[in-house]
Amino acid sequence: MDIQHAVAQPPLVIRREDYRPPAWLVPDTRLAFDIDPAATRVHATLSVLRNGAHSEPLRLDGAGQTPLSVVVDGVAVNDWRVEDDQLFIPLSGDAHSIETEVEIAPDRNTQLMGLYASGGNICTQCEAEGFRRITFFPDRPDVLSRYSVRLTADRARFPVLLANGDPVAQGDAGEGRHWAEWNDPFPKPSYLFALVAGDLQVNRDSFVTESGRTVELGIWVRAADLPRTDHALHALKLSMAWDERVYGREYDLDVFNIVAVDDFNFGAMENKGLNIFNSRYILADPDTATDYDYDGIAAVVAHEYFHNWSGNRVTCRDWFQLSLKEGFTVYRDQGFSADQGSAAVKRIEDVRGLRAAQFPEDSGPLAHSVRPDEYQEISNFYTATIYNKGAELIRMMATILGPTAFRAATDLYFDRFDGIAATCEDFVACMEEASGKDLTQFRLWYSQAGTPRVSASLEHQPGGGRATLRLGQRVPPTPGQPVKQPMLLPLKIRLFGAETGRPLTDERLVLLDSNSETIVFEAVTERPVLSINRGFSAPVVIESDRSPADLAFLSRHDDDPFARYEAMQQLMLDTLVAGAVEGRADHEAAIAAVADTLDNPELDRAFVAEAVLLPSEAFVGDQLSSVDPEAIFRAREALRRDLGRRLEDRWRTAYAQAPQIPYVYSPEEKGKRRLRNVALGYLAAAGVPDAATLAFRQFEVADNMTDRQAALTTLVSSDDDLRIAALDIFYNRYADNPLVLDKWFQTQALSSRDDAAATVAALAEHPDFTLANPNRARSLVGAFGVNQRAFNRPDGAGYRFLADQLIALDRLNPQTAAKLLPPLGRWRRFDEDRAALMREQLERIVAQPGLSKDLFEQASKSLD
Ligand code: ARG
Ligand code: ZN
Repeated sequence: MDIQHAVAQPPLVIRREDYRPPAWLVPDTRLAFDIDPAATRVHATLSVLRNGAHSEPLRLDGAGQTPLSVVVDGVAVNDWRVEDDQLFIPLSGDAHSIETEVEIAPDRNTQLMGLYASGGNICTQCEAEGFRRITFFPDRPDVLSRYSVRLTADRARFPVLLANGDPVAQGDAGEGRHWAEWNDPFPKPSYLFALVAGDLQVNRDSFVTESGRTVELGIWVRAADLPRTDHALHALKLSMAWDERVYGREYDLDVFNIVAVDDFNFGAMENKGLNIFNSRYILADPDTATDYDYDGIAAVVAHEYFHNWSGNRVTCRDWFQLSLKEGFTVYRDQGFSADQGSAAVKRIEDVRGLRAAQFPEDSGPLAHSVRPDEYQEISNFYTATIYNKGAELIRMMATILGPTAFRAATDLYFDRFDGIAATCEDFVACMEEASGKDLTQFRLWYSQAGTPRVSASLEHQPGGGRATLRLGQRVPPTPGQPVKQPMLLPLKIRLFGAETGRPLTDERLVLLDSNSETIVFEAVTERPVLSINRGFSAPVVIESDRSPADLAFLSRHDDDPFARYEAMQQLMLDTLVAGAVEGRADHEAAIAAVADTLDNPELDRAFVAEAVLLPSEAFVGDQLSSVDPEAIFRAREALRRDLGRRLEDRWRTAYAQAPQIPYVYSPEEKGKRRLRNVALGYLAAAGVPDAATLAFRQFEVADNMTDRQAALTTLVSSDDDLRIAALDIFYNRYADNPLVLDKWFQTQALSSRDDAAATVAALAEHPDFTLANPNRARSLVGAFGVNQRAFNRPDGAGYRFLADQLIALDRLNPQTAAKLLPPLGRWRRFDEDRAALMREQLERIVAQPGLSKDLFEQASKSLD
């Protein structure tokens, strides 16, 4: 066990305004690794250059190691000291060669940061501050260095030796050992360093770039996983071509390798020329991966590949600028995915994700701006705000600029900042320069946290008169930011005629830049209905006074697919809120709108499936001043049951659309499967007598995981004994596949049965459960935290369970523990009794001796 971050004194706060350029630069870095899982020697040779006129010593970051030796210009020295994990070396001249040697133990590295072991192989994760756990170095993103790396390891155990860049040479090292050398010609920050030593097989292909260079591609996995790598490899080639076509970005090395590992703290990592992935974002075949998994793999492969330009060639000056690479890269991968299938459905999924993860973050105790001002632990800032709200900021700028100017602006950005550690400000300045547009006010999006709320009300003078649209905005207070200024909100707007269903205006882009504004439309001949925030042009909450009838109207007539979906969601949401607050609601408008959507043959099946799905319990809760999980659950079940019963024939018809066999992964087939499984869910909600039999038959005959897991999900929330049989069959069939076992845990953690909390507690004792593997921990503990009703049981058992798990996990893997904390921080949103129970657990966590600074920061902020 090694916890470096025991909290003794008040934690150190890092502030953006304290940024200073590095005192020393490191133009060249040579690393020699003598790999041994229990004791790996790392010998580092750094050429260092004094940066400007100063007399500061060289200061290198470490993390608990003691140097075995320090050599300056070839001579061993002993006037160095280690203080607060940093190695200080006094230097007299302006340029020196520094050598250090340390010994580290990858097989005892349970944090999975730095050099660690996974499934017998050795790999790295350095972003954000893992490199210092490997060797002494100025571990900050604005120190760019050229790396050459030599790996030596046992040939039988580690036949494959990989690092960044291009392979240079390899050979025999005697005594059963071998070596390989890699050279990365592109200067990079230490967070992009990577190596892998393992017993791996490769799926190879090649890609010829726009300018005619051939790049060797390889996806490296355990031999048994090789047949499940084709989808990822295909996605990689599509990504390479897409980035050339859409952003003019070509790949720059002769090789591009991806390695999949089972133990990984997040999705994947964009190390230069050697991406390392959580295996769940590489491995897929129809029998083990769902359509969502296939989509996720393509998106993450694209994301990491796109980082080669947005992140690696142009990197970040400091970690406050994280969204510079992450927001932009998410925006880029969203564009890629939109181009692979239905752009409308992709937008709907992205907005649903934003509302599920980012909106709650932005309205809770951990709210922070897209470019934060301070942090205690940077790992806690890899958030939905930095990634997904950050992507929305880029999208808004693209909307304001228009496609041509936006492309000119990204060209300018890549060109001007190639090889440079840049800032969010640099990016916005390129947007302005290339377009001539003033984004002064827009910059508030980077500094102000909180989701803006926009009020919209439309009045019409009957008899062919004027229509007046009154818009208002309000940005709610967030921790440390009590008062907000009005933001620049790009809102796409259009009016439709209530009688004819036809558009009355063109789509217009309104740039709302003040607290209130009035827009007048002349000569509006019939009663207009407002379509606003079309395409979700701004990441805001719209509060409009549109009636259920108008929302139902838009769900039938709006020409913007997102707005159409949104109208339906708003209608359902209003119905559910009424149901939760008043105990009953009128379901008629929602039922009619769902029926019409199902009946419309022109709509794509995937769109229909999204549109007829009810908002989540959590999203309904977000609309209420105090969340009542039981009332929300009851209201939602009641609407589901009514929709199921009243539209039973339609669900049966949709369900009867036989799937294609064998499985085909295409937008079309995906849409059909999705709608069929949504139909199955509604039939089960209706309580039709054959629901469990239908689900169980689907579970048994399915030739793919999408249908099998959907059937299992339906059964697992039912009272039918077939659920026990299905869980057993599933478990036995996939006992040796960890990614599928994760689904077995997750499906049960998300069950809506009354005994879900007890089941989860029992599963935590299951022999296959372990906190040491982040995917497994997330599949049970993480999934349970989003099961609103089970987690928030009035007796507080859910809160105690989560706290117990986090305290145990923190001893192994603080980063992953801290990620799972947010559900406990939502106490302000609940009644007094629940709030007290949640706070009790937060206080218990904060009081733990030896708590990591990761978990300390999140838990203590959540108590404020
Ligand atoms: N840069 C990686 C990606 O988004 C993720 C790194 C996450 N690092 C962390 N400390 N959470 O592709
Ligand atoms: Zn990223």
